[in-house]
Amino acid sequence: MALTEQPTDNDLRFIRKTLDLANSAAAKGIHPFAAILVDEKGEELMSQVNAYLPHQDMTGHAERVLMTRASQTWRPLEMAKFTMYVSAEPCCMCAGAAYWAGLGRLVYGVSEHRLKQMTGNHPENPTLDLPCRQVFASGQREVAVIGPVLEDEAAEVHEASGAIRDSEEIDMNASRVTVVVDSRYGTTLALAKAIVDGARSEGAEVRLCRVEIVEPEFSVDTRRQDFMAAQAEYRDLPRACAADLEWANGILWGSPTRYGLMSTPLRAFIDEVAPLWRQGALIGKVGAAFTSTGGMHSGNEMTLLSLLLPFMQHGMVLAGVPHSVPELVHTTKGGSPYGASAVTGFDGTRGVDSNELAIARALGARVARLARWAEPEPASVELAAASGP
Ligand SMILES: Cc1cc2nc3c(=O)[nH]c(=O)nc-3n(C[C@H](O)[C@H](O)[C@H](O)COP(=O)(O)O)c2cc1C
Ligand SMILES: [Zn+2]
Repeated sequence: MALTEQPTDNDLRFIRKTLDLANSAAAKGIHPFAAILVDEKGEELMSQVNAYLPHQDMTGHAERVLMTRASQTWRPLEMAKFTMYVSAEPCCMCAGAAYWAGLGRLVYGVSEHRLKQMTGNHPENPTLDLPCRQVFASGQREVAVIGPVLEDEAAEVHEASGAIRDSEEIDMNASRVTVVVDSRYGTTLALAKAIVDGARSEGAEVRLCRVEIVEPEFSVDTRRQDFMAAQAEYRDLPRACAADLEWANGILWGSPTRYGLMSTPLRAFIDEVAPLWRQGALIGKVGAAFTSTGGMHSGNEMTLLSLLLPFMQHGMVLAGVPHSVPELVHTTKGGSPYGASAVTGFDGTRGVDSNELAIARALGARVARLARWAEPEPASVELAAASGP
């Protein structure tokens, strides 16, 4: 097969599939790379996303892992009939793996050269820019290469995901605050927006994100005017992902009270970012909580505590509201030393008042100030476990 071969419709279809896989990986906090192996009839045989996690394997590139798995399954004679599709051009290690596994044909999305321009010298991805064609040309059998294919779309995966960013883009002296909110009737969202204002007043860069709604609609009154207005706004927010937490040095999360605890959708998000816990990626960052509760004495502070506990599991430093904030002394409903909060009344008619909003702003500003001094100390939890008693 000639090197100048044009991509077929099937090639485009499978490259798009690797991009979808890479995007889903990014949403889970995994580096956005994916590879698919396809046989001579166009049947998909195996797929693989980046495997840096959970063991922080620096050689866990999607296509290297895929080639190792494939080589344990098929002999080179069969591999010569297969095509591997990769979202980004294989580095020399991965091209080497494809060569040794006996792969016949390779199609890739974004070139290694363009990837390097985007990722820069990221500690988890110090791109090694050696064209894969050059690696194959040094071998003794031919591997047909087609690419870059759909390069702009493939590059977008990396621009959109933010999972791997040029470290130079990040101002290490500024505070970066991520606010993750769950809200149905909009009161927790109102607190989140006051927190954002407070953090911005301290010069922080802020991301406000929502979580996926996973509870049944019938748990709330979907005909309420405040529900409809709030959901229109809520669903427009970007969905939070692990990369948003990795990016930040201050994190606030909040949800309405559900039976005295945080809500299921926020809890599901916390479960989803478990890879960050294994990486120890949030150790040393600042965390704070906020909530909205119907009743005055039916779970407001307990919800805040339930929201703070996972931060401690992540090794983070907790921030609350000090009594030097005047509104905390004067409040007649929400707001506490454990975090920002609102007490809305069981039918929501008490809303959020000015004291509660002021306390939320003060908490946002405080997290931004503390995050400036936070010293994230990422360290592998798994390595610690492996080091024995
Ligand atoms: C399933 C469910 C459980 C709830 N549990 C409690 C509770 O334990 N205590 C309480 O005071 N309010 C409870 N509420 C009321 C909400 O916490 C309250 O409506 C909240 O202020 C809504 O926040 P939002 O406007 O951000 O959606 C519950 C509501 C629902 C739908
Ligand atoms: Zn590689």
